[in-house]
Amino acid sequence: MTSYIEEHKERFIEELKDMLRIPSVSADAAYKKDVLRMADLTLQSLLDAGVDTAELCETPGNPIVYGEKIIDPSKPTVLVYGHYDVQPADPVELWHSPPFEPVIKNGKIIARGSADDKGQFYMHVKAFELMMRTDSLPCNVKFMIEGEEEVGSGGLSWFVPRNKEKLKADVVLISDTSLIANDVPSITTGLRGLSYLEVEVIGPKRDLHSGVYGGAVANPINVLCDMISSLLDEDGHITIPGFYDSVMELSKEEREEMNKAPFDLEEYKRELDVKAVKGEKGYTTLERASIRPTLDVNGIWGGYIGEGAKTVLPSKAFAKISMRLVPNQTSEAITKLFKDHFESIAPDYVTVKVHPHHGGEAVVTALDSAAYRAASRAMEATFGKKPIPTRGGGSIPIVALFKKELDLDSILMGFGLDSDDIHSPNESYGIFNYLKGIETIPYFFKYFAE
Ligand code: BES
Ligand code: MN
Ligand code: MN
Repeated sequence: MTSYIEEHKERFIEELKDMLRIPSVSADAAYKKDVLRMADLTLQSLLDAGVDTAELCETPGNPIVYGEKIIDPSKPTVLVYGHYDVQPADPVELWHSPPFEPVIKNGKIIARGSADDKGQFYMHVKAFELMMRTDSLPCNVKFMIEGEEEVGSGGLSWFVPRNKEKLKADVVLISDTSLIANDVPSITTGLRGLSYLEVEVIGPKRDLHSGVYGGAVANPINVLCDMISSLLDEDGHITIPGFYDSVMELSKEEREEMNKAPFDLEEYKRELDVKAVKGEKGYTTLERASIRPTLDVNGIWGGYIGEGAKTVLPSKAFAKISMRLVPNQTSEAITKLFKDHFESIAPDYVTVKVHPHHGGEAVVTALDSAAYRAASRAMEATFGKKPIPTRGGGSIPIVALFKKELDLDSILMGFGLDSDDIHSPNESYGIFNYLKGIETIPYFFKYFAE
């Protein structure tokens, strides 16, 4: 197995670089052609690796790349999920090399999508190729690679309930999360949910001279800032009434267990260049970033933001706000709580509008399943250490839907690192991680099939 990787690794890297050259940004319609080109390339890669059939499945959004290799219908089936779309590269000026011209530096491939998720889903394609060429595929495999994960998986949410028969499987295998460190393997056993919305604060009907009218008419940006800052109190608690009502609290034992995971706060601060961390009182950094819900402004704008100074009292102010959710909060209920609350705290000198975007539900996966044990043994085989179960802070909303619609559990066996800078400038993915994933995946198939 390692000899096949050793022999072909240069090609594996070149093929990934070809994928990274396609700017398959799902958030921006200007990249639609590239998104479709990326879908075609993904499809071709499955065919080249040896699937029986592969197709592009149309959805109301971007196509889903589907392929399968059925060696024996009586054997178990692994459904591999990943996404070929990427986040926008902005702010482009902060990249040290162009985001869609992959380069290798210090053992890492640098490009938008390298870790999230092209480098990670492509490990599965190459691991499948390896199993095909070395005649060691022990069970059936289905691939489902979507093109809208970064914008809420609308197309896939449409596709899954309509294709239950096609997607029949025994487990979903996903590499779209991180390890604790390259020498501290881990498996993600939970993801947070998400409620994402945009707010609009409207003041006077036109932009005004901030000297002529300033002080006499409410400034929507000032009002928006006041409203946002009232959403969190000094202890970092969210003040929306009812927000915590359905939050599942962990037992003292569970919290102790999770805080045993290796974590160095000094190193964490140093890596982020912050003097201190900040979060909800009564919880550790590990807990704040995984088992607790949050509220964050993701973007805020209005008025004049061009060069120099323009004196203006703007007519409108906007912000994009996300809330990360935990079991058993639901995205729909929290979105409604936010909307009702935000509208209720609006002073009468402005009008407030709340526009919900996408959302998703949190998940927690079982540690006592055959699939988890297979993943754990696979990582132990290649890392030489048993992986630690960790709850992740990010969201992959479709995972909850796999459970609901297909009654399938997912295994989140990711190989990235938090320092890969996913969604940030200079995203990267370690060659070590890429090859380690290709090496580990066949072990998962082997142990799961047993
Ligand atoms: N791969 C990430 C999710 C992730 C990253 C989970 C790291 C755990 C650790 C995924 O592509 C992502 O970015 N998801 C979005 C949600 C989506 C609805 C836009 C997120 O978490 O912001
Ligand atoms: Mn991802
Ligand atoms: Mn992402």
